[in-house]
Amino acid sequence: MTYVGIDLGTSGLRALLIGQDGTVIGATERHYSVSNPFPGWSEQDPSHWTYALDHAMRDLATKHGDAMAQLRGIGVAGHMHGATLLDKAGSVLRPCILWNDTRSQLHATQLDQTPRVRDLSGNIVFAGFTAPKLEWVREHEPDVYARIATVLLPAAYLNYYLTGDYVADMSDSAGTSWLDVGARDWSDHLLDVGHMRRDQMPRLVEGSEPAGHLRDDLRHAWGINGPVTIAGGAGDNAAAACGIGALNEGVGFVSLGTSGVLLAARDGYRPAPQTALHTFCHAVPGRWYQMGVMLSATDCLNWLSTIAGKSPAELTHALGTTLRAPSHLRFLPYLSGERTPHNDADIRGAFVGLSTSTTLEDMTQAVLEGVAFGLRDSYEALRKTGATFDSLIAIGGGSASRYWLEVIATVLNVPLTLPAKGEFGAALGAARLAHCAATGEQPETIMTRPDMADQIDPNPHLSDAFENAYRTFRAAYPAVKSIPKDDANN
Ligand code: XUL
Repeated sequence: MTYVGIDLGTSGLRALLIGQDGTVIGATERHYSVSNPFPGWSEQDPSHWTYALDHAMRDLATKHGDAMAQLRGIGVAGHMHGATLLDKAGSVLRPCILWNDTRSQLHATQLDQTPRVRDLSGNIVFAGFTAPKLEWVREHEPDVYARIATVLLPAAYLNYYLTGDYVADMSDSAGTSWLDVGARDWSDHLLDVGHMRRDQMPRLVEGSEPAGHLRDDLRHAWGINGPVTIAGGAGDNAAAACGIGALNEGVGFVSLGTSGVLLAARDGYRPAPQTALHTFCHAVPGRWYQMGVMLSATDCLNWLSTIAGKSPAELTHALGTTLRAPSHLRFLPYLSGERTPHNDADIRGAFVGLSTSTTLEDMTQAVLEGVAFGLRDSYEALRKTGATFDSLIAIGGGSASRYWLEVIATVLNVPLTLPAKGEFGAALGAARLAHCAATGEQPETIMTRPDMADQIDPNPHLSDAFENAYRTFRAAYPAVKSIPKDDANN
């Protein structure tokens, strides 16, 4: 028997085919773009996702026909919080408003200040979450709003495409601000204050449980012999935790992707909205996780790379292999606003301390350090909730830079472990959810940790210097925040 994990990412879709013992048989990727029609807006056409999914599955069928014939389970992990709005015929009403769209900041603040909202949802209502997006649509697109029969998150939209049924998992649904995250059910109060109804919500299942079966037409088109179980699936961060075996207290990861995430698996539900941490259901029953989210991590390096006309790898290689003392230049990584710890959609990035002798290398170093200091903010918030780590697993595109990992290990004062080359991300987590859903296997048995190739320890000689630099980083946010806003700036 074989299983496919789909990682519906912001910049593309990855499909991973694994065997019964978890070994990788094949993988394929399709890319698509994000549209930013106005500053702060971020949208995607859901038909690009289904097109990418269909072509990825056909690609796997062409390359691995025998293994695809044996396919018994599919799991989908998706970028979180996106609002996919459907009419009563199941047609998409407008482009999906994505997780990094900040147009609904005002509505988010209003909902966040509504009594019992934080208590029930366990979280601040961030501008990127789903409920404020629907409030924005209610105000600005009343015709669309009036026709909404169902709201689906991106992963649940693919579940719908695969099964014909509206089903979502707990981990993704926890990021809507409509879920009672402790009770793992839609909250009538939260729906009510968000002007939504239970009948507009998908049916809820755990991520590792069956959501339905693959439509026959797709099964035939993709060359599959028998019935295929579709798992509940997951939000991408919960799926990544399944992929690296982060199910239990004490295990966590640092993910350096477009957004930066510091995630800790938790045995119980311990919401701490005042810290701006996210507290969400895990994709497996009876577990939760907490994470700090930075909106721009590798995005900061990519931005500098575009400005400098050099690739991110060229920029980081120029720093050499020996960790340097912290730069005198401070970089605030708030290019798209920030979630943890500031909950501030309006703040923007800054360099502090530029001089005539500042070089591109200094700027690269400051960018890497600024992201590490942002992660330290999340780390401090997690520690306040009682989370402890002996080490953290480093994942995501940015973990290709060893220099960056050394900065982060030193700034957090925690060793980082680096998985051996191979699959361990959200696509593997989704394939593992498919395995559990199709066979009834226990998540603990399937979601093991990958072999680790390397450990990056904090540099004890530079820890004091980085501690001082972190203090100046902390001081820079309120200073930048206090600059009066120029209406022309965004
Ligand atoms: C999590 C979040 C991001 C997206 C990115 O709250 O918004 O990590 O899931 O894919």
